[in-house]
Amino acid sequence: MKIGRITISDRAAAGIYEDRGGPEIERVLRGAFGADASFLAAVIPDEPAQIAAKLREFADREGCDLIVTTGGTGISARDVTPEATRAVLEKELPGFGEIMRMQSFATVRTAILSRATAGTRGRALIVNLPGRPSAVAECLALLADAIREGVAHLRGEDPHALPRNSQ
Ligand code: MTE
Repeated sequence: MKIGRITISDRAAAGIYEDRGGPEIERVLRGAFGADASFLAAVIPDEPAQIAAKLREFADREGCDLIVTTGGTGISARDVTPEATRAVLEKELPGFGEIMRMQSFATVRTAILSRATAGTRGRALIVNLPGRPSAVAECLALLADAIREGVAHLRGEDPHALPRNSQ
């Protein structure tokens, strides 16, 4: 399982902030996917062309199964991650964003300020997460089962098939 993680933040890209969201994606997904996971990392500014180019690179050239972004999903003028993501998606999965907002809202009232989305490009599943490291962990916990099954579908695997040695 090849996973691309992309931190989208002007300040992290300029070295003003330490990138904590990207390493948090890796920590949580290593817990979920274990030794099966290898990671590619990028930190880029809130520039639509750069975001779209990095998503295409990770999906098309690197062959990532899963690409997770963090940041740029809000309402500030520079927040353009959902638009840049939609520009490269083939199929949008609006339920990912809906469930993050619905479930997070119970404890984090500002969760509805995120416009995060998700979808597919070729065999890659692309998922936006909000920028806060705590939001990364909260949202990945909600999405882990759907991510696992979505990746299996895109790889052409039958996620319900029994392992060979148990048949
Ligand atoms: N969702 C969860 N689960 N936890 C959070 O702390 N922060 C919210 C929201 N979603 C948050 C969350 C806040 S304060 C903002 S502004 C939006 O995500 C957008 O964040 P972003 O622009 O960093 O992506």
